[in-house]
Amino acid sequence: MHWTACFSLLVLAAGAIAAPHARADKHYAIMDNDWYTAGFVPYLIALDGDVDILGLASDTANSWQRQGALHAVATLEAGNLSCIPVYAGATWPLINTPERFQAWETIHGKLPWEGAFAPENKTAEAEGNDPTSGNPNRFVKAAFREGYPKGKPNNSTSAANFMVEMVHKYPGQVSIYSAGALTNIALAVRMDPEFASLAKQLVIMGGYVDLNMLQATGSIMLADYQSDINLMIDPEASKIALTADFPSITIAGNVANQVFPSQQFVDEVKTAKNPYAELFSKSKYCVCRFEFTDNFAALVYLDVDTSYGSPNYGNIHVYQKALAPLGIRQVNYIFEVDADRLTQRIKHSLMHPKTCADLA
Ligand SMILES: *[C@@H]1O[C@H](CO)[C@@H](O)[C@H](O)[C@H]1NC(C)=O
Ligand SMILES: *[C@@H]1O[C@H](CO)[C@@H](O)[C@H](O)[C@H]1NC(C)=O
Ligand SMILES: *[C@@H]1O[C@H](CO)[C@@H](O)[C@H](O)[C@H]1NC(C)=O
Ligand SMILES: *[C@@H]1O[C@H](CO)[C@@H](O)[C@H](O)[C@H]1NC(C)=O
Repeated sequence: MHWTACFSLLVLAAGAIAAPHARADKHYAIMDNDWYTAGFVPYLIALDGDVDILGLASDTANSWQRQGALHAVATLEAGNLSCIPVYAGATWPLINTPERFQAWETIHGKLPWEGAFAPENKTAEAEGNDPTSGNPNRFVKAAFREGYPKGKPNNSTSAANFMVEMVHKYPGQVSIYSAGALTNIALAVRMDPEFASLAKQLVIMGGYVDLNMLQATGSIMLADYQSDINLMIDPEASKIALTADFPSITIAGNVANQVFPSQQFVDEVKTAKNPYAELFSKSKYCVCRFEFTDNFAALVYLDVDTSYGSPNYGNIHVYQKALAPLGIRQVNYIFEVDADRLTQRIKHSLMHPKTCADLA
């Protein structure tokens, strides 16, 4: 769990590259994530870059969707950002379940990070971990270090339907950011044949390449970074989303998992007296360091393995154009990011967070 905070940085990494700055058009975004206490970093960065966030959507990946949606509401409340609505996504992946996933692990080996499909652990929940397995509708209050929310998600529609409505309202202008499972995006793709092409782009975190060697040779922690729970929790949805006709798809692979803030960074952020800087610096998850210095992106063709019998079920497989099978498409794959630029953006957004008063 200590990497969950760092997971969110990945969206930023993608955003740092994908978010256009000086543009005449509005840049709208819907951010879909498995929200948690320190999960505010991506939306603070987006707001700092003048992205107009239409709403947050919740999905099941590191924990169950309903718990994540309440974390989204709670973290927005913490910084006077409740003008941004939260829409609940699907609680269940398209076909996967904890039992089905755990049966797969029995055959193909255990994942070091199992997300919402880790066995239920009441001791861990009492200590403040978000719920895994068991009843997907329960709330674990101890996990709300940001405070238990007063409000609720907006129940007027579902996350998938909200995405569909918004791309029709603002054609070509809405970026869909996903740092969790792709279930809601797959539902939107299937619900409306125009959805993907009317969006501006899909930016996702996850989809690691070269992971198998690290799983074998790396430490358990390194192996953990390489296990791709965001895609694996819902492999079928991942395939639907990554083969849909979005004008552009950008994947930040294992880059930002390696872009961790140093203690010096945390200390500097802490000097800003605001709720987000405090929550961030209290987070025990973020004592790590930066490793990467350059942007490096490539255009690749990729597919998601959807054979339950495969050891790579739910992982991506990359091809070059000449060798790619039919039915898959080109995506922009980011291998490395500009860590200095990313650090500056994170720092600025945490030390000077926007509130609804700035957005009005
Ligand atoms: C949030 O709003 C309340 C009431 O308007 C105000 O007292 C508080 O300082 C605000 N907090 C932040 C972080 O802006
Ligand atoms: C449950 O969580 C506790 C506290 O984090 C941990 O010590 C224990 O090993 C966990 N149990 C299992 C079966 O993983
Ligand atoms: C919920 O969202 C809908 C749009 O989907 C909006 O019309 C409505 O005002 C929102 N409700 C609340 C309580 O914010
Ligand atoms: C939505 O939430 C409101 C306020 O909590 C509640 O009164 C209403 O029944 C809910 N609507 C649906 C469709 O669940």
